[in-house]
Order: sequence, then structure tokens, then C-alpha cells
Amino acid sequence: MSVMEQPGTTSRIVPVRSLDVAAVRRDFPILNMRVHGHPLVYLDNAATSQKPRQVIEALTRYYTSQNANIHRGVHYLSETATAEHEEARERLRRFINAAQAREIIFVRGATEAINLVAQTWGRTHVKAGDEILVTHLEHHANIVPWQMLCEQTGARLRVAPINDAGELIMEEFERLLNPRTRLVSVTFVSNALGTINPVSDMIALAHSRGIPVLVDGAQAVPHMRIDVQELGCDFFVFSGHKMCGPTGVGVLYGKAARLEAMPPYQGGGDMIRSVSFEKTIYNDIPFKFEAGTPDIGGAIALGVAAEYLQRLGMDLIADYEHDLLEYATRALRAVDRVRIVGNAARKASVISFVVDGVHPHDIGTILDQEGIAIRTGHHCAQPVIERLGYDATARASLAFYNTREEIDALVAGLRRVVEVFG
Ligand code: ALA
Repeated sequence: MSVMEQPGTTSRIVPVRSLDVAAVRRDFPILNMRVHGHPLVYLDNAATSQKPRQVIEALTRYYTSQNANIHRGVHYLSETATAEHEEARERLRRFINAAQAREIIFVRGATEAINLVAQTWGRTHVKAGDEILVTHLEHHANIVPWQMLCEQTGARLRVAPINDAGELIMEEFERLLNPRTRLVSVTFVSNALGTINPVSDMIALAHSRGIPVLVDGAQAVPHMRIDVQELGCDFFVFSGHKMCGPTGVGVLYGKAARLEAMPPYQGGGDMIRSVSFEKTIYNDIPFKFEAGTPDIGGAIALGVAAEYLQRLGMDLIADYEHDLLEYATRALRAVDRVRIVGNAARKASVISFVVDGVHPHDIGTILDQEGIAIRTGHHCAQPVIERLGYDATARASLAFYNTREEIDALVAGLRRVVEVFG
């Protein structure tokens, strides 16, 4: 059975009762590939996920029968494309349970979303002497935009430390919250280690002091059910391509009152109500932040990806992946000379590891010859990898379409790595 019989429809979302991984895998054409003569074992999902045919077909459908610019035309195609694009916004609203569709801003991805907040909200609210608080677990995309803002304003970036297991030290986080803190910006799930941060508790602590919170949800949305109203965060950002959607499109969620009070990010078409050389009046949210022709087909396909995941059931995905992560962790621990980097009590779908005496790039190259795709390096999170004593690790990152057999293939590949480097 396909998990989504009517791609592109808006029928009621009824998750299947348990994850039928064999059926799910049939939705992903790329998983049938062979690489270097071996079946592809794709374990680089934190870098980007694979795409189900429903998403690929949505892109094809858009470009074959719906393509036109949106919010601009009175003709059939433009009205169709506009309706599909706005339906996608509604699907993304449902996906994270935002209160209103206008709180969903389409951007290029999590990176652009954070830069947008830094340069609009940040430039109006942050001044010399203020502080932005992040954690040692952040991806570069949640470090560098704040460093840039600090350079522009004279503010200071503070970093909440982690322990040797790769977990945030909550007492230190709380100690760093002070009257100068203007914003907490924190990743939900570490892309490098898989650590799940206690974001609800962090938001409660920040809010009790009147400090807004941005949550980087890029590595969370593919793995767990998200409810931004329950979380109460002020901003939530994610990329489409890590959650089965296309590259080049993602979402900035912001509470409506915050977005309304922020100046626009980029100027151009669609973000204006009227323009004259004397005065320009900006459009309402969400359009105020969507200057220029957006990735229309990408947003529509992302809406289909969100619905695809919801039909599977995010809680079922989380349970299945948790079981697979435990299986993989036990299996890797049993391999001679393999050490797992990052052993937080709460983790999602990521195993960073090293093999004593072997450079991570060599691990990746040997595994590739077996058709196994992992990522090696600092994973765009250099500070956390260095904090744990490495300059690079190998990383296997799992998705709901991965299987125990694929973990067994990884383990067999690692035994060969150990043999080769005797
Ligand atoms: N942020 C992506 C990763 O973790 C690219 O690999």
C-alpha cells in the first residue's frame, strides 16, 4: 500500500497504525539504486533526506500543468498556482500547528530564516552591550548570523556550555540568562551529535525573564511531531530538504505580533502594498517577508512532503527511528576501535563516531565503495566537534526508511575499515 494514495489532495490526514517500512521504501525511487555495484545504503539524512515520488510528482505536476507567477495574474494558471502555493502554506501551518497560516513565511531554508530574524528583529531590538545566547551545540547557521549582528551592533554572543556527553548544562544556561539577554537561539536537535535539547524548559526559563526564543528545528521536523503553540517559541525555523521536500525552500515561523512589528528583510515585488519614489507602504505578513518571485513549485512540493510525513504519523516515525537508533548504537559499540562521539540521554537519529587510528574521510571513502553514504568532517558544527576533542568525525544519520539490514551493512563496512587499517 502506498502511504499516500492521493498526492496533492487535502483529504483528512489519517496516519497508518504502524510504519510499514517496506511500503514506505517503495515510495522512494532512489533507494533502489546500486552504487559501486552494491545496493545504496543512504545514511546521510541529516545532510539531506531522500524524496518520495509524491514530492517528485508534485514538482513535475507544477511545471507541466500549473506553472505561472503567483499573486500577480488574473489568468487561470496564475490563479491555480496561487491557490496551490497558499494551500502549501496551510499544510505547513498544520505540520507545526501554528495558529495562523500568515505566521508561515517561505524562505530558502533554515539558514535564510535565521539571517532574516537576525537582520530584521535583531537590527531593531539589539544594541551595544546586549547579549544573544546560543549553546555549544549549534550549527554554523545558528552562530554566524548572530556574530554578524554582534559586529554590526556591538552586542555580545554568549554560549551555554555542554558536558562531555554532548548535553546542555541547564544550570549554566540558566545562569547566563540575565537582563542584557535579548534573545535565546537554540537548536532543537544537534545535527552533529543528535542530542535533543530540552527546549520546552529552556523556553520556560527564557520567557519567565521576558526573553524571546528562536528554535532551529531543521533536524527536529523530520523526526518528531512539532507543535509550536505548545512549545510557545517566538520563532521556529526549518529547511524543506531535510524533511523529504525539495532543496531551496524552507519555513520561518514567527508569532504574528512579532512578525508584524519587524521591518522587512529584502525589498522588491510582492512585499509592498504601494510604491512611490516618496514613500513605500509594505504588505501584510506573510508577504512582507517574501520579496520577489518565490520557489513556487518548491513550496507546493514541500506542502506535499509535510502531508506525506503526517500521513505516516510523526509519532510512529519517532518510535521507529528511536528503535533503529538504539539498534545502531548497540551494533557500533560492538565494533572494535569504534567510539561513539556524543552520548546524550536524549538523542534523535544521529550517530557520530570515530575509528581509532583512521581518519574519518578514509572511513567515508571505504564505506562509499560498499555503496554506503555517510558524512565525514565537522558537519558545519565545528565548535561542538572541537569541544568533544576532535576536528572531524564520521556520522551516520538515519531516517524512517532505513532498516536494521542497512545498519548491519554499515557495521560490516566498519569491520572492513578496521581490517584495511589493521
Ligand atoms: N546541516 C547539514 C548537515 O548536518 C548540511 O549535514
